[in-house]
Amino acid sequence: DNSTAVDLALFGALGDLALRKLYVALYHLDREELMAPETRILGLARQEYDNDAFRARVRDALETRVRADERTEESMNRFLARLDYIEIDFASPESYNQIAQWHGSSARPLTIYLSVPARLYGDICANLSSAGCLDDESRVVVEKPIGYSLQTSEEINDAIGAVFDESRIYRIDHYLGKETVQNLLALRFANPLFGSQWNQSHISHVEITVAETVGIEGRWGYFDQAGQLRDMVQNHLMQLLCMIAMDPPSNLDADSIRDEKVKVLKALRPFEGARLDTDVVRGQYIAGTINGKSVPGYLEEEGANVDSRTETFVAFKTEIQNWRWAGVPFYLRTGKRMPEKLSQIVIHFRPQSHYIFDNDQRNMAANKLIIRLQPDEGIALQVLTKDSGLDKGMRLRTGPLHLDFHQAFPSARIPDAYERLLLEVMKGQQYLFVRRDEIEHSWRWIDRLIQGWEARDIVPKRYPAGSWGPVSSIGMITQDGRSWYEDY
Ligand code: BG6
Repeated sequence: DNSTAVDLALFGALGDLALRKLYVALYHLDREELMAPETRILGLARQEYDNDAFRARVRDALETRVRADERTEESMNRFLARLDYIEIDFASPESYNQIAQWHGSSARPLTIYLSVPARLYGDICANLSSAGCLDDESRVVVEKPIGYSLQTSEEINDAIGAVFDESRIYRIDHYLGKETVQNLLALRFANPLFGSQWNQSHISHVEITVAETVGIEGRWGYFDQAGQLRDMVQNHLMQLLCMIAMDPPSNLDADSIRDEKVKVLKALRPFEGARLDTDVVRGQYIAGTINGKSVPGYLEEEGANVDSRTETFVAFKTEIQNWRWAGVPFYLRTGKRMPEKLSQIVIHFRPQSHYIFDNDQRNMAANKLIIRLQPDEGIALQVLTKDSGLDKGMRLRTGPLHLDFHQAFPSARIPDAYERLLLEVMKGQQYLFVRRDEIEHSWRWIDRLIQGWEARDIVPKRYPAGSWGPVSSIGMITQDGRSWYEDY
């Protein structure tokens, strides 16, 4: 479909994200014939490469990252032929003239992808504009982190906004590109069974866990300035929370969806006073073992500042102060160096109000909906049935109604988040991208939490790598008579 053809100019073309994710995603779109034949891709970076060297580098990246049965010489060559390269100096006007020349008078929208540090966004946008590269059709795609506080994110958004209209800005949160995250919309708004139960009358509490086994992986310099709250909660966990908690949008338009998400962010209860001690847990991993392998502690990682108080784990209990959710606690946790990689949402429904079975089984009497985002994508609904056996009487047991996406739809490949996101950019559709006010409301809430930590001098609690975080993150939920759901 030629209406989706773009001239994609990728800043940071030899960076980690580009080589790990972006070319692979673009390649898959091409291979599945979702990329218009006219689409061209321009790599921009400081290294002295020419087109051939650049294509060879991308070929290498594809050969390591795309499965052998998903590539042929023909599909690889077709993709590589779309690529050009310009060696640029981000600050020099001459470089931008070259981009203008490459784009020429093409009718394809020039689509700028900024996979470079956010402090460069403003200058790059301004330079593109002065070199006459842009018109009303041009688009810009930006990666996180957009700032490290409300103020810095406003500065960055102002600088981009001075050149691009909001309707042309695509802010990436790659969690929104995940197939299973989009599935939350289908699950909630296409199934009356769930839609009708999705509120405080029927749901007792909600858990969101985003656990990673990775540590800092050579990114200490970046990570130590950020910490898990800014690196994961400000963006990914907030987006998951919004997708779970938002009211039904009136349609699937970008702004209908984003308006509803903003309402959730505005209704999120801020942390104040003693709740900073009881309802939030900050953690930092020490040495431990993951899958039988010993790993160093955060302060022993390469390049570490041994006095760092940066958190690698956060758990908190919050509330969304509106009609739908009043009184329903949301428990969230995310950390590095957890025992397994697992992103999962668990919706706990309220128990039956009139109970006729054995009283000692009352506590198991609640349905749970477990939404497994990654890995082993699927959905399970825990239901109660009668235990079989003549000696069991009317004893109950719990078991899952289980939809495993890989088993149920074996021929469907689950695409990487970046494939979906790049496809939507090419189509000019923004519903999977984050609007300026979403980011800013989220920062406002995060800033308050950080100020609270600073004011109360809250230092991270230690947890061994390979554990589920500081003991107090377990205590935070057990003191409410609940526990983190573990058994999938
Ligand atoms: C990134 C964070 O945004 O998301 C990383 O900067 C984190 O620290 C990553 O590891 C997790 O993404 P995924 O897709 O592996 O869950």
